[in-house]
Amino acid sequence: MLNPRLLALLLGFLVASITSIFLWFTNQTPNVVFVGFISAFFATGVLTFLVLDYFIFEEVNKIYRTLQQLKFKGLNISKKQLYKEANPLKKLNDELYYYADKKEREINNLKKAEQFRREFLADVSHELKTPIFAVQGYIHTLIDGAVNDEKVRDNFLAKAAKSLDGLDAIVRDLVALSQMESGEIKMNLQPINLEQILNEVIDGLEKKANEKKVELKILKNNGSAPIIVKADQQRMVQVFTNLLENAIKYGKEGGKVLINFEEEKYMWKISVIDNGPGIANEHLNRIFERFYRIEKSRSKDMGGTGLGLAIVKHIIQGHKSKIQVTSQIDKGTTFSFKLEKAQI
Ligand SMILES: Nc1ncnc2c1ncn2[C@@H]1O[C@H](COP(=O)(O)OP(=O)(O)O)[C@@H](O)[C@H]1O
Ligand SMILES: [Mg+2]
Repeated sequence: MLNPRLLALLLGFLVASITSIFLWFTNQTPNVVFVGFISAFFATGVLTFLVLDYFIFEEVNKIYRTLQQLKFKGLNISKKQLYKEANPLKKLNDELYYYADKKEREINNLKKAEQFRREFLADVSHELKTPIFAVQGYIHTLIDGAVNDEKVRDNFLAKAAKSLDGLDAIVRDLVALSQMESGEIKMNLQPINLEQILNEVIDGLEKKANEKKVELKILKNNGSAPIIVKADQQRMVQVFTNLLENAIKYGKEGGKVLINFEEEKYMWKISVIDNGPGIANEHLNRIFERFYRIEKSRSKDMGGTGLGLAIVKHIIQGHKSKIQVTSQIDKGTTFSFKLEKAQI
């Protein structure tokens, strides 16, 4: 390893040796040869060292200091370290490269976040605009005289109310989503009986299921043991409502929806399985995005905000778990996630 001190020593030694040999051949006395050797050694050594120190290390250090003033905080070189390094310029180069690489990745992430924010804002305004324009249209038509026709009046009022309900649903979902993202709402994790919650959700969805003649069924792999998990009760209601509502809405008429509980060593695996039309691969990892719908108009007609699965994903993440989806066209779709077992 050629560090600057060693380099100075070597060079000093080399020059001193050549000088001594030269003196020796010119028949000088050993004393003169010795003095020549020593002086050449020190002169060359010290000079080399000073040159290296002042012209390279000092310069490199200056560059380093300038970089630090530019708030290149990640750089981590000390003068001591530079001395040890065989090639301080290479070391500085490596550090700079590493630093630039890190910064570039940071910038890319920021750009992505910025783009996401812009798209999200555009989506939100679009989603809000639609129901607002609709309500605006109905009300103005009523004011302009339609209010006198009783049939038209009732029809328009009902439609305006429906649009406003949709608007309300979107805003509520958006608030929930943003609160979860900002960490404002913490998950209230407690031992809860999941089957009990599920049954309540199923009761609430009975009307919708009956309308489409969909059969909802619960299956457990362990018979009668209660399903106790560590989870947020309110959030689990939201999760089941979203998943079951989707399975009913997007499933086929007269279809079946199965809620399957599988007991594992430390976890309960929960799956919501439908035998609906399925989801094509290209949509599969996008359905958790906000406002992503496979069939825009159909989902909206059915009162969907397009935020349901985004919320479900957040809630499951808040339980330190992950939601997974598998699907086969014409066979059906399965959403599943795991929750930690608990004891009441
Ligand atoms: N079980 C399912 N079968 C088929 N498609 C589904 C299913 N669940 C969700 N989807 C698709 O995923 C999209 C996103 O769902 P979601 O986030 O709940 O929004 P929304 O229900 O409000 O439209 C839906 O619009 C639908 O196209
Ligand atoms: Mg939904």
